[in-house]
Parts: sequence; structure tokens; C-alpha cells
Amino acid sequence: MFDLEDGFRIPIVGAPMAGGPSTPELVAAVSSAGGLGFLAAGYKTVEAVRREVDAVRALTSAPFGLNLFVPGRPLADRAAVEAYRERLQPVAERRHVTLPDVVDFDDDAFDGKVDLAVELAVPVVSFTFGLPPRDVVDRLHDAGSAVIATVSDIDEAFSAAQLGVDAICLQGVDAGGHRATLDPDAEPDPRSTRELVEAARSAIDLPVIAAGGIATGAHVAATLEAGATAVQIGTALLDADEAGTKPAHRAALHDARFTETVVTRAFSGRPARGLVNDFIADFDDHAAPAYPQVHLLTSGLRAAAGAAGDPHGLALWAGIGYRSARSAPAGEIVRNLWSETR
Ligand SMILES: Cc1cc2nc3c(=O)[nH]c(=O)nc-3n(C[C@H](O)[C@H](O)[C@H](O)COP(=O)(O)O)c2cc1C
Repeated sequence: MFDLEDGFRIPIVGAPMAGGPSTPELVAAVSSAGGLGFLAAGYKTVEAVRREVDAVRALTSAPFGLNLFVPGRPLADRAAVEAYRERLQPVAERRHVTLPDVVDFDDDAFDGKVDLAVELAVPVVSFTFGLPPRDVVDRLHDAGSAVIATVSDIDEAFSAAQLGVDAICLQGVDAGGHRATLDPDAEPDPRSTRELVEAARSAIDLPVIAAGGIATGAHVAATLEAGATAVQIGTALLDADEAGTKPAHRAALHDARFTETVVTRAFSGRPARGLVNDFIADFDDHAAPAYPQVHLLTSGLRAAAGAAGDPHGLALWAGIGYRSARSAPAGEIVRNLWSETR
């Protein structure tokens, strides 16, 4: 089983990034360089995930990970999502998109993806948006997989530790993309990644993989110094050659017109950090706090914006270190971050 305490050649994890950025080529490049690349199973079918796992194995014999979304509760407040749907209607008409009906529940094919991870004995499996049931952790262990629970505060880390996971991924407020927060209605812990790692050091007896805002060698060094076993980088890989990031998203990372990131529920109903664009400016105040209903509602709008190359209709997920994202082969990005710490 991959040793999440001492098994890293380079203690840098390539974050799972659902929605396109995490390609098999990106994952293989990070793992081949000595880090730990992660496939993102979120939003995909089981068969698509199988193809991606096979593709990574065809590219590298190095260990890699697979990340799964844990399903939440059925929709509680349909009226709030319907009201948001109405508000999005003019944008949908402008983009010639038909907004889908609001669904009560979607489990992102969780059980099928767990079965697949067990069948394929994926070396490392991580979870976000919730904790996996204990029997899932046990089945993955029996298959030889190491298990990581992604959490965003110390209470959540305690809950994860009780499940027998092998490490926690501890995600601070600086992180790009969705916050892992177990309770989607709660406001996430406002502490920085560094502050959370320091708080976890004396409280949690598990390896801590720190995620959020880590985009330079100095950040990596400071986070390891604070007590992390490894760091998880997402935004720093968004413009890597092998990433599947949309061109408009890549360009926005370096565009002087995009000057700040903010945490919003506007695109998905869950808190997530991205570059401020027109969609966030128009809808942040109105978004219903309902995941995945809002995610499903906006997916056609986002796809249309992506096809049109319009950064103002896309979720430009990015952490606070976005200006340090480099356009280079992923292996070079990982090796450079590590060599800058020495
Ligand atoms: C575009 C994007 C997509 C993401 N998708 C996922 C995902 O599918 N699963 C997950 O656990 N985390 C996801 N994250 C969060 C990352 O795992 C990680 O916590 C975050 O990128 C760290 O912050 P940083 O972006 O500042 O490096 C995503 C982040 C980004 C930027």
C-alpha cells in the first residue's frame, strides 16, 4: 500500500481537478516526476473513469490517485433553486441554452465508482464533499488502496480519523475550486491553509496533506515546515501543458483584467473559489445553496461560454496563488517547486 507518510519521492500531490483540468497525461506527468498525480472522477461516468485509470497505467508505472465526490442529502429547498433558475433564464436565452429541470438528488455514480476503484486497486483513493462510509474504507484497504479524506477544519479531521483513513487532505480558505466542507450549508472555516496545518499538528495523529494557495517553492517549504507531510497543488497546475483546462480559463490566470478571487456558490451551490468575472458579479448574491442542483443547472451555460471562449460565463476556479501558475510541462512545475525549497 502506498505509504502516505514516507512514500513520497517528492511530497507534492497534483490535486484532482474535475471539470477538465485533470487529464491522464497530467496525472502521469506529476507521478512520473516523483509527485502523486490524481485523477478526478467527479461529474464523469464510471466507464469514463475506467478509461482514464487505464490511460494513466499505460503512461506510467508510478503510483497515482483517484478522487471521488461523496453524495450529499436530497434537495431541501426546491423553491430557492427554482427561483435561481428563473434568474438565470435571460442568460440562457442569450446563450441559446435550455436550462434543465431541477433534480432532487444526484449521487454522481458514487457506488459504481467505489466498485471500480476496488476492482482496479487504484493505489490511492481520496474523497471530498463528505466522508466515505466505513465499509468503503475497509473495502479499499482490502484492495490495497491507501485512503485520504479531504476536510476543511479540525472537527472534520477528527471525524475522518475515526473512520480509519490513512491521511487527511486539509484544505484552507486559500484553495481554488470547491471547498471540501462536509456540511454544504455551513460556512467553511475561514482559516488559511497554513493556520489549519498548524492547528492540526498537535491535534491529529495522521499524515496531513495541505491544500490551498500553495504555488511557489516558498509556499511549499513554509507549509511543510508548519507540519504538513505533503502539499497538494491545484492552481499551480492549471496552465501545465498536459492539463485539460479550457483556453479561456488558462488565459484568465495571466490576464490583468482578472484581479481577484472570491468564494462563491453562484456556479454550483457549494462554496468554491474562482476569479471574479461577470457571472459571479451578477449572480453571487442570488445563488441557492444547493449542490449538485445548481451545478447541474449552470452546466449548459458554462459549456456554451467555454465553446464561445468567453471567460465571463465560465467558472474560473483558482486559488489565491493564481498569478504564480506557470505554463510548462507538469513534471517541470513539480520538480521546480521542489528544488526551490532546498
Ligand atoms: C479547477 C479545480 C477543480 C477542482 N476539482 C476538485 C475535485 O474534483 N476534487 C477535489 O477533491 N478537489 C478539487 N479541487 C480542489 C483541489 O483539490 C485543491 O484543494 C485546491 O486546488 C488547492 O488549492 P490551490 O488551487 O490554491 O492549489 C479543484 C480545484 C480546482 C482549481
